[in-house]
Amino acid sequence: MSPAEAPDTSLLRARRDRASRSWDVRAGTVLIPSGAPLPIDGTDQVHDYHAHPEHAYLSGSREPSSVLAFDPVEGWVLFAPASTLEERVWTNAAPSRERLQVETGVEDIRTIEALVPWLELRRGNAVAVLGNADFIDHPERYRLPDLRALELSVDEGETERLRQLVSEQRRAKDPPELARMRAAASASVAGHLSGIGLARAGMSERQYQIEIESEFFRNGGSRTAYGSIVGGGPNGAVLHFSPTSRQFRDGDIVLVDAAAEVGGYASDVTRTFPIGPRFEGLQADLYDLVLATQQRAIEAAGPGVEYKDLHMAAAEQIAGGLADLGILRGTPSDLVDADAHALFFPHGLGHMIGLSTHDAGGCLAGRQPSDRFGLKYLRADLPLAPGYVVTIEPGIYFIDALLTDSERRDRYRDMVDWDRVDKLRGFGGIRIEDDILITETGTENLSGDLPSERSAIESLRAQALANG
Ligand code: GLY
Repeated sequence: MSPAEAPDTSLLRARRDRASRSWDVRAGTVLIPSGAPLPIDGTDQVHDYHAHPEHAYLSGSREPSSVLAFDPVEGWVLFAPASTLEERVWTNAAPSRERLQVETGVEDIRTIEALVPWLELRRGNAVAVLGNADFIDHPERYRLPDLRALELSVDEGETERLRQLVSEQRRAKDPPELARMRAAASASVAGHLSGIGLARAGMSERQYQIEIESEFFRNGGSRTAYGSIVGGGPNGAVLHFSPTSRQFRDGDIVLVDAAAEVGGYASDVTRTFPIGPRFEGLQADLYDLVLATQQRAIEAAGPGVEYKDLHMAAAEQIAGGLADLGILRGTPSDLVDADAHALFFPHGLGHMIGLSTHDAGGCLAGRQPSDRFGLKYLRADLPLAPGYVVTIEPGIYFIDALLTDSERRDRYRDMVDWDRVDKLRGFGGIRIEDDILITETGTENLSGDLPSERSAIESLRAQALANG
């Protein structure tokens, strides 16, 4: 365990106290299952497992098949599996009760089997189920028998109310969380720096993935935060492109959205770079536009600022820049009112980040998500506050699926220079993304050690190519 991952049990207790006080549950039971690894058929192994963030945040444990439970009389109990002999032979042993106590600060730790009699004693109580709801339909994943005999009545309204309160609590990161996020961002920066130096024409997206991920791990990453996205040339236009055997070619730009996780906490970093020593022609113009948009959004971010306002300003900046380049036609505000910018910038400005890549975001209580073309992937609609960490990741892409869609071509007939755009299919995409901590007075860029200025990226590429 790295120093960034050391548990702070007094803080974990304070998190639980704060949650239970805010819930104000007078009667009833709260269950927060961790989730469980899914078996891979035909092997005796399991898919990569990630503990549910609500469970990890409140318990401090990321062990699978566990349930953190709360009731207003008994307080907190952690039900966790003890390992079987077979597991001790074939895989890892589950932590002992003593180790879990040290790591979580929960006094009352019981084996998972004890959850059934615990629930039996509360028969008839309304139950809120946060965490991973797989527990209700798949108790076998928790080594529990069919729970139907307990007649659990899950109160969906209460579940939603408590979940909203936990999300609000989880948004501002505390110092141990920030230590992990800084460590994750720093491993990600090391990986991207190494990757930008290693990329060559003839290298495949898959090879690049292997190089950058190995550098994450060499620099303390415990996991990748999400499936690495590596798109060379036209593949950069697919927002979440999984690396293939396609080899980088001279003239390509490469979009790499990949990052490390440390102690359960994600970072999320994207850079776009040329395979040659510099961005050429429109590549450079669009890179500068995306970078200027990102920089302005980071400068404008801070406590009290509405994230949606940052998104709308970025959309206007991109629309205006595309109009200046003759790709869109109209004023920035008319283009954004019509969502025309979303043909080229079809995602939100970013999202909150923490125990998941898309963490505890959503809408401030009382607000509703929008299904507008230009807004439906905005993953946070709330005012920023100190301790929040958000990504700021504008992008411009030439996406076949959108640009060949007849309904959109018709709708934006007069707002797009379609002849020009049709010639640009295959261009790929440009995204630049950093992890921004909101402070009392402004922001801190957690991934800011990774250059993003065009001249800096070009000089890294020129140096790399000069080294052979
Ligand atoms: N960077 C990957 C994601 O936001 O899902």
